[in-house]
Amino acid sequence: MSWSPLMRSELIRRFCSLHGREPAIIARAPGRIEFIGNHTDYNGGTVLGAAIDRGVWVGVAPRTDGRRRFASAAMTDVVETVADASRPLAGKDAWANYPLGMLVSLAAAGVAVPAGFDFLAVSDLPPGAGLSSSAALELASGLAFARLAGAEPPRVTLVRAARHAENTFVGVPCGILDQAVSGFGRRGHLVHIDCRGPDFSTVPLPAGTGFRIFNTHTRHALVDGLYAERHRECGEAARALGVALLADLDSAGLEARARGVPEVPLRRARHVVGEISRVAACVAALRAGRIEEVGRLLAVSHESSRTSFENSTPELDFIVEGLMRTPGVFGARLTGGGFGGAVMALVAEPFAPESAERVAAAYNERFGARPDVLAVGTADGASLENP
Ligand code: GLA
Repeated sequence: MSWSPLMRSELIRRFCSLHGREPAIIARAPGRIEFIGNHTDYNGGTVLGAAIDRGVWVGVAPRTDGRRRFASAAMTDVVETVADASRPLAGKDAWANYPLGMLVSLAAAGVAVPAGFDFLAVSDLPPGAGLSSSAALELASGLAFARLAGAEPPRVTLVRAARHAENTFVGVPCGILDQAVSGFGRRGHLVHIDCRGPDFSTVPLPAGTGFRIFNTHTRHALVDGLYAERHRECGEAARALGVALLADLDSAGLEARARGVPEVPLRRARHVVGEISRVAACVAALRAGRIEEVGRLLAVSHESSRTSFENSTPELDFIVEGLMRTPGVFGARLTGGGFGGAVMALVAEPFAPESAERVAAAYNERFGARPDVLAVGTADGASLENP
């Protein structure tokens, strides 16, 4: 599967009708699946993700008056700022904090950025599904801005600037997973991130496998607060266990220090340390072609989310359980931060649509709403797609 050519022409068409000329620079960046390694990134651990063939396209054209005009196909109003504006926006304009934050973070990293420009983003990622539309918007914006200013920063600089923007400008204490996968994705591969370096590499996906995403359209009302709470609990666990980062422990080391550690942080730590060992086991199983073992690890990861990290929901559990009983499914788990969003399944291709439909229909019966089922392929990381 590859990028829809419609997205690029859609971007150009809308850009012309909105800004009255063609974009000078076009960039695209993919969304991502978190394959395995849940909440390991900000704990210094390892994680596997895949860039997918859906994402965000950004077009920019220079302006000489220093004005910055941000538009998104998903929003009706254009957000306008001046070149030296560097404060986050609030309310309905807050979506523009992703490209604005990129400008601020790239400049802080010493990368040239343009003063004035017209900007438009279009996306074929379902929002709120946990497929990282925000990281895709950051990466595509960053690439386009740098090129418009004549700069070609190393990929790692872009990725770090995107995380920095998210942490400091948007205000989400995320790790580097989403931005790194959107930046370093490779078609037919998973991206392996050792978040401590950070170091990035790729692992081939076995031929004949594919992904299905089941988007539940559910989102815990407190999802951002719950993510931040897990982040805090992991820090608390590391302190109680006497290490700087949870990734400093393996499970034997963790159990050796567990006495006296309060129960909740201990469970969070067990999840994270377990996930890190499952990432290593998964890489070994992938390299050895043991796909059934990979599927088993995905299921164990979900179970650990459900019971230890408590970032699953009855909706996500229901879909995972249904999928694990479905022929052709190797494994399934929640993907991303949790507390709603989507389940990803690793399947044998071709995967019968009726099999996915059965799971969706059962969910509908139970919860009174249909999940969307998306077949997604892997894709390369962010790139310039100039006119
Ligand atoms: C979100 C964050 C990532 C990562 C995952 C959980 O996607 O943005 O940094 O922490 O949750 O693994």
